[in-house]
Amino acid sequence: MNTSNSSPAIYDDTVVRQFALMSVVWGVVGMLVGVVIASQLAWPQLNFGIPWLSYGRLRPLHTNAVIFAFGGCALMATSFHVVQRTCQTRLFAPRLASFVFWGWQAVIVAAAISLPLGYTSGKEYAELEWPIDILIALVWVAYAIVFFGTIGTRKVRHIYVANWFYGAFIIAVALLHIVNSAAMPAGWMKSYSAYAGVQDAMVQWWYGHNAVGFFLTAGFLGMMYYYIPKQVGRPVYSYRLSIVHFWALIFTYMWAGPHHLHYTALPDWTQSIGMVFSLILLAPSWGGMINGIMTLSGAWHKLRTDPILRFLIVSLSFYGMSTFEGPMMSIKTVNALSHYTDWTVGHVHSGALGWVGLISMGSLYYLIPRMYGRTEMYSVKAIELHFWMSTVGIVLYIAAMWIAGVMQGLMWRSVDPDGTLTYTFVESVKATYPYYVVRVLGGLLYLAGMVLMAWNVLMTVVSGRSARAPIPQPAAALT
Ligand code: HEM
Ligand code: HEM
Repeated sequence: MNTSNSSPAIYDDTVVRQFALMSVVWGVVGMLVGVVIASQLAWPQLNFGIPWLSYGRLRPLHTNAVIFAFGGCALMATSFHVVQRTCQTRLFAPRLASFVFWGWQAVIVAAAISLPLGYTSGKEYAELEWPIDILIALVWVAYAIVFFGTIGTRKVRHIYVANWFYGAFIIAVALLHIVNSAAMPAGWMKSYSAYAGVQDAMVQWWYGHNAVGFFLTAGFLGMMYYYIPKQVGRPVYSYRLSIVHFWALIFTYMWAGPHHLHYTALPDWTQSIGMVFSLILLAPSWGGMINGIMTLSGAWHKLRTDPILRFLIVSLSFYGMSTFEGPMMSIKTVNALSHYTDWTVGHVHSGALGWVGLISMGSLYYLIPRMYGRTEMYSVKAIELHFWMSTVGIVLYIAAMWIAGVMQGLMWRSVDPDGTLTYTFVESVKATYPYYVVRVLGGLLYLAGMVLMAWNVLMTVVSGRSARAPIPQPAAALT
């Protein structure tokens, strides 16, 4: 990989800086809302009887904020950073890149206002109403033009594998968003889906699962393929494996959506296809994970001293865990137990906190100091502390949800010899209470780690600006 680090005179990094900082800000906001809704599940009085503070409205605010604001800004920052370095060229159409930044922030603010007010299309992870959907489509097309335009004007022949993953993420999300959001407006903030009944459910979960596959996975694999080799100082373990990884993952994800609709009105054979493709998905997922982890071969000792590397590598362990768990949960008989329980929520957060969260944080810790003329963050000790806070937080969160989930599944299916249910539903809710409290503690730790990161980033920016000022700017560096 022929790359060089930040040089403000050569690359268009303004938009990289903006997205990187906003990722940290939205991370704090989204996780704070996560802790609030986790607390509401344990102590329902915290709904305060105020509609816009109620769980039902804050939950989509949480998912949208962490996925699209925190994750989305991290993906945009890193993709604009990586594509310039690996293509040895500036961003194509920097003004359009600026529109991508401001347009995306406008989408986030519109979501933060409309969701608490109760405007929703009712489709999970696609709740935003049609005017906001149109803005998303415009911003996304602009994003694609800047990204692929930069690749088109590259100064090296080769397209590095990280760009393949970012590229697939951008194309797939455009396709998913436009198809799933097709709707008939019935007022400024009300619309009806273009699809009806079970077709609507099928399109929604084709979207939903590929949002996991492309938004929460493919783009972050792009981060893996750039930032791990950079931080370790070694090339990726197997370039050949990375190509097999790419095509196998991209092909398989598209078919797995029906595992979200087991035992529904969806035809049985469709559910089975979803299950089989989910099982196959284990192979490319683990192939990619192994490729990332093995990049460390010969340099394992660095894990002992480098907290950023620990973020990056431990994220892959969680990726491996959740992509083993997912295929198991897609088996119909296992899903009969796990569906509707907190096991699903545990699976989600082992992927979300463990994989998406940690890889983003590790990549941002690499990226941010370099964007402000420093070689490392203001406090490396704080990164170390953040790593342990988030890791312990994740373990508390997901262990509590696994136990709660399996317990709920077993309680709901338990029957007495006379055929009546052994437990009422409310008994299972009561039994879950202690686990909800443990989740709040885990979430608080994870959030506190993120606040620590925000402080560290602020100090890095403030001290880095003054360090950067005297660097001379060579003219026409790219000519
Ligand atoms: C402080 C950290 C966090 C806390 C305390 C937290 C808490 C929660 C809670 C309480 C729910 C609702 C669960 C339910 O409906 O029973 C939830 C849902 C969800 N959260 Fe988080 N969360 C956190 C961070 C994140 C992050 C960083 C992501 C993604 C990158 C994420 C993604 C999601 C998703 C996708 C759901 C929906 C799950 C489903 O429908 O099964 N969360 N979260
Ligand atoms: C091989 C990879 C994976 C497979 C086969 C898989 C499979 C599954 C299955 C079977 C469910 C439960 C569906 C249900 O009962 O409703 C599920 C839910 C979910 N998974 Fe995964 N999973 C994988 C990886 C991941 C990763 C890496 C993440 C996050 C980064 C993730 C995020 C989610 C989310 C957000 C849901 C909840 C959707 C909802 O109901 O709202 N999955 N997954």
